[in-house]
Amino acid sequence: MKSASRADIPPFYVMEVMKAAAERERQSGDVLHLEVGQPSTPAPRSVRAAAARALESNRLGYTDATGIPELRELIARHYGDRYDVEVSADRIVVTMGASGSFVLAFLAAFDVGDRVAVTEPGYPCYRNTLEAFGVEVVPIPVGPDTRFVPNSSLLAAAGPLDGLMIASPANPTGTALRPPELEDIAGYCSSRNVLLIADEIYHGIEYGERVPTALAFAPDSVVLQSFSKYYSMTGWRLGWLVLPEHLVRPVERLAQNLFISPPTLSQYAALAAFDAAEELDANVARYATNRRVLLDGLGRVGLDHFASPDGAFYFYIDVSHLTDDSQELCRIWLDELGVACTPGIDFDPVGGHRYVRLSYSESTADIIEATERIAGWVAVREMAD
Ligand SMILES: Cc1ncc(COP(=O)(O)O)c(C=O)c1O
Repeated sequence: MKSASRADIPPFYVMEVMKAAAERERQSGDVLHLEVGQPSTPAPRSVRAAAARALESNRLGYTDATGIPELRELIARHYGDRYDVEVSADRIVVTMGASGSFVLAFLAAFDVGDRVAVTEPGYPCYRNTLEAFGVEVVPIPVGPDTRFVPNSSLLAAAGPLDGLMIASPANPTGTALRPPELEDIAGYCSSRNVLLIADEIYHGIEYGERVPTALAFAPDSVVLQSFSKYYSMTGWRLGWLVLPEHLVRPVERLAQNLFISPPTLSQYAALAAFDAAEELDANVARYATNRRVLLDGLGRVGLDHFASPDGAFYFYIDVSHLTDDSQELCRIWLDELGVACTPGIDFDPVGGHRYVRLSYSESTADIIEATERIAGWVAVREMAD
């Protein structure tokens, strides 16, 4: 029996690294996890309490395909409170995480053969999901010269486009689009009828200026957000879409048919997420400490070729002075040091073999230990050369 050619897409390598790290953990118990892109904390206390109440008192049946109205209202209000941008709850669709949003947004917006640009490096599931849907993926190579963010000149070089996928702050680099950069991209897209889709999943995890929403510059863009990162709820599988009017009904019809409704328990729990800022901001303070530990420790051994991250919890480090096969380097670090990292090929099939992504979402003690192990390994290696 055959399997469909549309499923012939690359794996999400970070999941494979996690599998190898889990195997080592089963055998020797020693792994420091710098490969995972998820908070090491549970959901906020108020969210867990709301979930417990809902378990006792709520039938937890299906909900509207677009989510419970109370949550959509809260999300809409969040755009006013945080960004001073007015969004009506009718344009919010609650989804099964940003991953569920990709499926809905891409299917609703693009036909087979449409051309959609993604940055390279960029989050691999954009490219792989678009490919599975028969959309032509147009890579936009970005590098240290633009802090790994795209601009209108790079877009112009890509030829005609139907859509552009951006992320700010981005995975794997953590760099964010500043207001003039977002304005430049939004202007390019609106003047050429290119649908802008902005992944804002790392909003809230920021180390300097507050990162702007694409909605402030491109009111007709599609914005994706999730409870996975800042809200520390990865396994609850919940996120949302802010849609332009013309995509609301198409997405609703798709959501009804593909998923019926987003997870009900998670939706009732998430009603408490917007009141948990104190607890969640303490997580961000820990990421900031971890970021500083890595910056200082790796900088001392010359591992300092990266754009300084504005947000998220990643460093995307150029390791080309150590190897031209970062997958092999990650294997060595896992075997010899017990430190799991993600090779750049996940994010950039062309140049990623020269890069490694380190995530610093784990405890500060783990990040200190991992920094010492990696820095020690690099120092020995440099002495031997
Ligand atoms: C940029 C980006 N978008 C989306 C996702 C998927 O998020 P979710 O858990 O909401 O499906 C991730 C997960 O790492 C991510 O880094």
